[in-house]
Amino acid sequence: MGKTVLITGATSGLGRAVAIALAEADHCVIATGRSRSKLDQLKRDCSKIAVVRDLNVAIPDQFKTLVTEISAVGVEIIDTLFVNAAIHLEHDHDHEGKPYAEWPHAKIRCKTYETNLFGAMRTVDAFLPWVLYSKDGRILFSNGTLGSFGWHHHENQSYRNMLGIKHPAYAASKAALNMEMVHLARQQPSLFVASLSPGWIETAIGGSGTGNMKPRKVETALPHITKYLVGDIDRSRSGSFIGVRDETIAW
Ligand SMILES: NC(=O)c1ccc[n+]([C@@H]2O[C@H](COP(=O)([O-])OP(=O)(O)OC[C@H]3O[C@@H](n4cnc5c(N)ncnc54)[C@H](OP(=O)(O)O)[C@@H]3O)[C@@H](O)[C@H]2O)c1
Repeated sequence: MGKTVLITGATSGLGRAVAIALAEADHCVIATGRSRSKLDQLKRDCSKIAVVRDLNVAIPDQFKTLVTEISAVGVEIIDTLFVNAAIHLEHDHDHEGKPYAEWPHAKIRCKTYETNLFGAMRTVDAFLPWVLYSKDGRILFSNGTLGSFGWHHHENQSYRNMLGIKHPAYAASKAALNMEMVHLARQQPSLFVASLSPGWIETAIGGSGTGNMKPRKVETALPHITKYLVGDIDRSRSGSFIGVRDETIAW
């Protein structure tokens, strides 16, 4: 039987691709996003998506409206909450060798945390009761190696160089999100809670790479991500940070 899956940030990149893939596989997808025009386009592109609704995760009041709206259309449980919405505002900033005074302005940090961290936790606060109604409740967070201290300290210099000193606010927001995830997993042992990395994929956040360093196409991440959202999983791995080859990523 199809699952009911609520996705944040379903208007582009990974969230959009996952929303379409799950709807095509007859799951009941509640796709949310901050752009009304992109949500309308999503519904036009995939009529099998059950519900599309506005949700800017940086605006607390929008959660109340959404909870009321999805109750009104008869949604009673959410099997999987895919906490995916995020921003990355530091693409053009390489901080290697630059004085600290030239690092991202406090505004960039606040905006980044507001969406990537506080927005994610607001999503959990709003929908946790619905996920607890499911017999197979799951909460999955989009994360990646930029949020891993282990990768930033990797013994292989080329990995460290690849991450560089480029994304402090984004990376910090994702590292903090991992700690929230671990606590949530411990507090809710009946649920499967994990951080999932899609790998480096070509999206607005992932960019398109340079030279021969190119991200993978978003579609290549789908089998891995959709397995954790709706497929067979090892529930004993709740509380983990899971990479594209099912490996555990170092914190
Ligand atoms: N791309 C990678 O290589 C990579 C690697 C590791 C982890 N991730 C993670 O994967 C997730 C998806 O990112 P992506 O790569 O698919 O990038 P993306 O295409 O930029 O998707 C991000 C989504 O989040 C939405 N969003 C941003 N701020 C929002 C807000 N305040 N409220 C609601 N939605 C908001 C965006 O909306 P708009 O459509 O309006 O912009 C977009 O739909 C993110 O959590 C990212 O950190 C990506």
